[in-house]
Amino acid sequence: MGIPHRNMSMVPRVLFGAGSFSQLSAILEPKRQGVKAPFVFLVDDCFANYSDVVDQIPTSYEDRIVFVSSEEEPTTEQVDLLVQEIILQFNSIPSGIIGIGGGSVMDLAKAVSLLLTNSGSASDYQGWDLVQSPSVFHVGVPTISGTGAEVSRTTVLKGPVKKLGINSDYTTFDQVILDPNLTIGVPAVQRFYTGMDCFIHCIESLEGTFLNPFSRVHGEKAKSLCEAVFLPSQLSDSEKREYLMMASWLGGISIANSQVGIVHALSYGLSFVKNIRHGVGNCIVIEHLNNYYPKGLETFRRMRDFNEIELPTGICENLSENQWRQITSIALSLEPLWENALGKNWKSLIDEKEIRELYEKM
Ligand SMILES: [Fe+2]
Repeated sequence: MGIPHRNMSMVPRVLFGAGSFSQLSAILEPKRQGVKAPFVFLVDDCFANYSDVVDQIPTSYEDRIVFVSSEEEPTTEQVDLLVQEIILQFNSIPSGIIGIGGGSVMDLAKAVSLLLTNSGSASDYQGWDLVQSPSVFHVGVPTISGTGAEVSRTTVLKGPVKKLGINSDYTTFDQVILDPNLTIGVPAVQRFYTGMDCFIHCIESLEGTFLNPFSRVHGEKAKSLCEAVFLPSQLSDSEKREYLMMASWLGGISIANSQVGIVHALSYGLSFVKNIRHGVGNCIVIEHLNNYYPKGLETFRRMRDFNEIELPTGICENLSENQWRQITSIALSLEPLWENALGKNWKSLIDEKEIRELYEKM
């Protein structure tokens, strides 16, 4: 017997194409559990005044649109509150949850749909395979490309003591709609940072010890799509939107069957202690990982310069001793990420002191 292979959960239905969002109504109607069981649309509040997207949301009966802020990364507390509100308001389990937004909204939609059918707090399920019951029907509609949240089996949440995903086969969306037109309004800087999340997923997957042919083919394709989008090319803007949406999808599949690595381990610490957005945190971190990802870093820097991105510096100045303990222990606690990056004996290759030294340079 060798190592057991991963029986990977996948999104069973995906609709791709510019303008495909208009088919949402046809997708939802057969899934309605009755007039009293609404669909709840969790929508990034950047669309609150952008009627084009909101006007296309097909609400009927008791369906509800809830605008959620994606200024901050989602928390377990936010998930618990949303679930409580939904249960109090409707007195019944909704027919489905539809997340329309970036990675944070995708993660919120996944977590809320899980917690509607699993008791307790979202923080009880942060970890690997702790969820007991299938979630309610949930649909992901990404409006920015790169996080891979639309395809992953995790929902990353900040909890009271850690930032960690609810990793479960039940987390994966039942349906995803990939409509590149929904990403038209994304500011260039945000598009870069989120796109780099995807590029970094590919680097960490392709250079990790968990790499396998399944992850390799998806990761290689996603990486080359990112490079086509963020380095000089003949692509039109609409092609770039389509390519980046597919890169996010493929990069997500690549890490789902392997793992991310040191960039993500350190970035999770940064976002917990310094409240730095995931995409930005990844870019800050990779700048200092020349010893681990030299080829990826070289390409990253070309993309950074071509897109005229200035990364923040000095962000770990003035951390208290308590924050140092927190940031290093969060990074070190992500054991599968270190094992993927450095191999089975990773504990002999990295320690708290070295991690702190890396953070000090940021
Ligand atoms: Fe990521």
